[in-house]
Amino acid sequence: MIDLECAAALLREAAAAGYRFTTVTPLTHQRVLARGEGEPASTLRDVFGWNLPFDAGVLGASLHRRLNDAGLIRREGALWRSHCRIASIGRDLFLHSAFPTVEADAIFFGPDTYRFARFLREALQRSHAAWRRDAPVRVLDIGCGSGAGGIVVARALAAHGLRANVTMNDINPRALDFTAANAKAAAITVEFALGDALSAVDGPFDLVVCNPPYLDDDAQRAYRHGGSGLGRALAVRFVREALPRLAPDGQLLMYTGVAMVDGQDPFLAEIEPVLQASGCEWRYDEIDPDVFGEEIERAVYARVDRIAAVGLAATRPGAGPARAFS
Ligand SMILES: C[S@@+](CC[C@H](N)C(=O)[O-])C[C@H]1O[C@@H](n2cnc3c(N)ncnc32)[C@H](O)[C@@H]1O
Repeated sequence: MIDLECAAALLREAAAAGYRFTTVTPLTHQRVLARGEGEPASTLRDVFGWNLPFDAGVLGASLHRRLNDAGLIRREGALWRSHCRIASIGRDLFLHSAFPTVEADAIFFGPDTYRFARFLREALQRSHAAWRRDAPVRVLDIGCGSGAGGIVVARALAAHGLRANVTMNDINPRALDFTAANAKAAAITVEFALGDALSAVDGPFDLVVCNPPYLDDDAQRAYRHGGSGLGRALAVRFVREALPRLAPDGQLLMYTGVAMVDGQDPFLAEIEPVLQASGCEWRYDEIDPDVFGEEIERAVYARVDRIAAVGLAATRPGAGPARAFS
């Protein structure tokens, strides 16, 4: 358990100081650290973005004491190191796991989160007109991690004059702790559902968003391992389970990665019949043709050409106002 009050206070303090940090891939992070080997942290970005060791004076006595009491920073030899990082999307800040994210229950935030956020905003730009303004849009974020998807959706819907009732789901209890702190700092009220995706929640949803794990991870970390089929099994299952839970006019927005084999897309091949049988309208786009290139050096990916980031938008037909679906 993280100390919710302390974590939210840290995020508010960072926001007041104008903190911004774009989280990069682990490889880029490593390269940047290697460049400045041995240099001590002197700014909040050094401490909470690059996760560098820092001297006790850097944070100021009061914040330092609070974070230490809450276990959010730890002594490392003569210096200290933060036990979490802070990333930004626009003006919202997100607490996530320290670098490197090797723990089985690490909380993910990375370039995929930014691509997911952009995919959500662009899709909602097209589809927001389907929902009524006099009732909250029922939103489910499956595998919420730091809560970035649900918070981005709440902001995007608000920008279109819509209220959201957001349920944050994850199988990792730490993710819900981090999400609670991030939502509190963003002043967004959310509900929590701990457990395996759709089985952890009741009722239909107007909007289900998801950035599932999609790699074949030797260590089987919850934020990375997508199961069999080169990491696609979980995403396929989430599509199968989410479609019947959409309300009329309800939409599934899934961002994921697919290991392409011999020029074919095995994820699309598996979900296409499910989408056709569901009666939903859908579109499927490649967002980035080549992500996690270093992974294909591993034996399990021996036949894989590339890993592509893709976006699926599936909508259950309803009685609402006409939707622009192109
Ligand atoms: C790639 S991370 C995405 C986190 C966040 N949505 C983002 O975009 O930054 C995938 C998340 O799915 C969660 N997860 C894995 N299996 C799950 C399951 N069966 N049910 C719910 N969440 C799951 C992981 O714990 C992790 O937080």
